Amino acid sequence: MRVIGIETSCDETAVAVYDQFQGLLSHRLYSQIAMHQEYGGVVPELASRDHLRRLLPLAREALTDAGSDSESIDAVAYTAGPGLIGALLTGAGFARSLAYAWGKPAIGVHHLEGHLLAPLLEPEPPEFPFLALLVSGGHTQLVDVAGLGDYRILGETLDDAAGEAFDKTAKMLGLPYPGGAALARLAEGGIAGRFDFPRPMLDRPGLQFSFSGLKTAALVALRGRSLDDQTRADVARGFQEAVIDTLAEKSRRALRLTGHRRLVVAGGVGANRKLRERLAVVASESGAQLYFPRPEFCTDNGAMIALAGCLRLASGAPGRGLGLGARANWPLGPLGSE
Ligand code: KG4
Ligand code: ZN
Repeated sequence: MRVIGIETSCDETAVAVYDQFQGLLSHRLYSQIAMHQEYGGVVPELASRDHLRRLLPLAREALTDAGSDSESIDAVAYTAGPGLIGALLTGAGFARSLAYAWGKPAIGVHHLEGHLLAPLLEPEPPEFPFLALLVSGGHTQLVDVAGLGDYRILGETLDDAAGEAFDKTAKMLGLPYPGGAALARLAEGGIAGRFDFPRPMLDRPGLQFSFSGLKTAALVALRGRSLDDQTRADVARGFQEAVIDTLAEKSRRALRLTGHRRLVVAGGVGANRKLRERLAVVASESGAQLYFPRPEFCTDNGAMIALAGCLRLASGAPGRGLGLGARANWPLGPLGSE
């Protein structure tokens, strides 16, 4: 089974080829970040137009790198949602046209399922079942993963996603969009303890998150202060530590609640080194093993979509066609029957 995967949910155009037995054969990605940076965030219409420009050359390159042609591809997987509707439709239209022309099935993949399964791209992949901490620009969720397509959300954010809070705080610190990774670098030179921000929701039972108050606390801390480099670094450090403490403690509680022995961290914020270090401690103290994808497969990529499509095809439950095939809002839950 060999699947080409296409990702266009936001500001990355990505195409990859995944083989059931040989693993990942190729992956190509074009990031639109430079284009959106001058606006301080993603401009949906520009994103859709740029996906259209990049898809065909990227698909050609990914196929050539994989030594594949249309004959050796068994299905075309694409991100069907959630995401920016115009961007999703561009990818869906392209993917479904390819599938139609090649006479192969098209598989609409849930973007978050792609993120959840990304650690399976690594040499020592986790087995099912596992607990997943999904932390991206759009989502923050703890998910009980019983098996392929068998997902149950245990807790999620009530307002901002962790990555969104990173990006908004980074903006206040004068960093370009998306500022998560830049904020993490700035925090390295910060003095611990100078800014002690609240740990949202830690005093409450349950597995929900909330990050908008923390972002406001950072804003209040910055107000009326001279923003010298040391102060910016100290705020970045205080903010990052508060986010990581919260994610780590809720993950610890979820491991205790579910009894899972495997913890998977996925999504863009999963690329954060300090978060990984803390989760490694949480996992070992909970008798669990930590798994994460390499940083480039934490953020949006085509490899995770090709992999998810391939696993779905191999399982015999690839999901039925979805009309034009894209949904801006699509809650994660048990998948496969839609
Ligand atoms: O998964 P992703 O590429 O896109 C979504 O599906 O949202 O995640 C992007 C998010 C952005 O908010 C970005 O700032 C954040 O991940 N991010 C980081 C780091 N690298 C990316 N946040 C904190 N530390 C990082 N090293
Ligand atoms: Zn994503």
